[in-house]
Amino acid sequence: MSKGNSPIRADFVVVANRLPVDLERMEDGTQRWRHSPGGLVTALEPFLRARRGAWVGWPGIADFEVEPFADDDLQLYPVPLSAEEFAEYYEGFSNATLWPLYHDVVVAPEFHRGWWNSYRRVNRRFAEAAAEVSAEGATVWVQDYQLQLVPAMLRELRPDLRIGFFLHIPFPPVELFMQLPWRTEIVRGLLGADLVGFHRPGGAQNFLWLARRLAGFEPSRGQVGVRSRPGVVQVGDRTVRVGAFPISIASAEMDKLARTKEIQKRAKEIRAEMGNPSRIMLGVDRLDYTKGIDVRLRAMHELLDEGQIQADDVKLIQIATPSRERIEHYKQMREDIERAVGRINGEFGRVGHPPVHYQHHSVDKKELVAFYAAADAMIVTPVRDGMNLVCKEYVACRPDLGGALVLSEFAGAAAELTSAFLVNPHNLDGVKDAMLAALNIDEAEGRRRMRALRRQVLTHDVDRWARSFLEALGTPLAD
Ligand code: ADP
Ligand code: F6P
Repeated sequence: MSKGNSPIRADFVVVANRLPVDLERMEDGTQRWRHSPGGLVTALEPFLRARRGAWVGWPGIADFEVEPFADDDLQLYPVPLSAEEFAEYYEGFSNATLWPLYHDVVVAPEFHRGWWNSYRRVNRRFAEAAAEVSAEGATVWVQDYQLQLVPAMLRELRPDLRIGFFLHIPFPPVELFMQLPWRTEIVRGLLGADLVGFHRPGGAQNFLWLARRLAGFEPSRGQVGVRSRPGVVQVGDRTVRVGAFPISIASAEMDKLARTKEIQKRAKEIRAEMGNPSRIMLGVDRLDYTKGIDVRLRAMHELLDEGQIQADDVKLIQIATPSRERIEHYKQMREDIERAVGRINGEFGRVGHPPVHYQHHSVDKKELVAFYAAADAMIVTPVRDGMNLVCKEYVACRPDLGGALVLSEFAGAAAELTSAFLVNPHNLDGVKDAMLAALNIDEAEGRRRMRALRRQVLTHDVDRWARSFLEALGTPLAD
């Protein structure tokens, strides 16, 4: 990574809360950059690197200024946050107001005027940074719920830009959105974009309704399609398009990696290290209360208790990346999950043979792919998820057509991955049945389902997602 002081003026700019790399302070006082967590970075980084764009975002440490720098062909433009802004804009308004509100109020959202003021202030800073870094007529692609005011603020500063916005999390039902005291400001903020994108047509449809109800515009009335038939809102002399663009992963790259001898060898080692159980279930998530990690632990507990599975035969690996660790609901959930893991291992484990292997850290890409390749059943049970990339990664990593996927109906991916065992995570008996079905699937049926899942994931990759969005934005990519 090289540092440079020359001003950046890019034709293609991504603006996201986080840079694709996070600065981490080590205990000995040194610092290092590491890969940022979450699906947004997974999806956008490979795409932007290939196109030599600029990325505007927070470097991951509060009260810390970093000069713009280059990371290979990617220009990184850090936006600083103070410790107070981190608490109010990031932990507060983004992750204790908007996150739960947009995820079906799975925990109660908190509404504080101080947090809102901080959100506005930080959004303005991101808009100013984007205005500075963008060349004349550039395309600027603003990402996610942390920056919903940026499109309108940026348009005011730089009317020459083409501005897209994509929401990586679900957009809520209108009845829930209407709880937000600052609902009109958010809708107006988003309408500053030329194209507002959601994962699912339902989100786009909800937003169109709100554009009428809260901002008084007359939106088009037709049904929004997937990557087709975007809705339209006329805002003065501007036409804002509103569409659905389900995000995906770099499928071919993961498929290729999963086929390598190194990964196949590591997958076998993982099974051997666990005592070669007859079946391995896998969960991979940020440690977030929306992910339903508790649901799969409860299901496993009951299956063991009822003798439907045996602790020596069936193991669960749960890899949980630490996330938003100072927020109360996250602290509570971590305690609950770790207690549930302890209970299962205490009640059903033997020395050296716990049924649940729980890791509270992230793993590198090759290790992750080896886990996917080793797992007989991938368990993805969010109570609400915008898309969920983990299930798509699992499918991409099974060129052997082995493995089975248990997937929540409440993940955006469920609309595409219909050959998975789809479950309602609120129905524990249904989750248990689906786990048993995935664990005991007959080989031909498993291969049939996996082939159908792979057809979907390999033909709808992240490049297709970005291309369809940018085409609808009116800035199609050259090959
Ligand atoms: P979210 O964006 O809410 O975190 P997604 O499923 O869309 O959820 O994306 C999560 C991304 O983070 C995936 O690319 C996944 O591989 C990665 N990830 C999640 N947990 C881990 C982990 N423990 N170690 C490494 N990568 C992880
Ligand atoms: O994909 C949803 C998302 O919230 C991204 O916006 C975010 O970067 C990622 O998950 C990880 O969350 P955080 O940045 O709060 O660690």
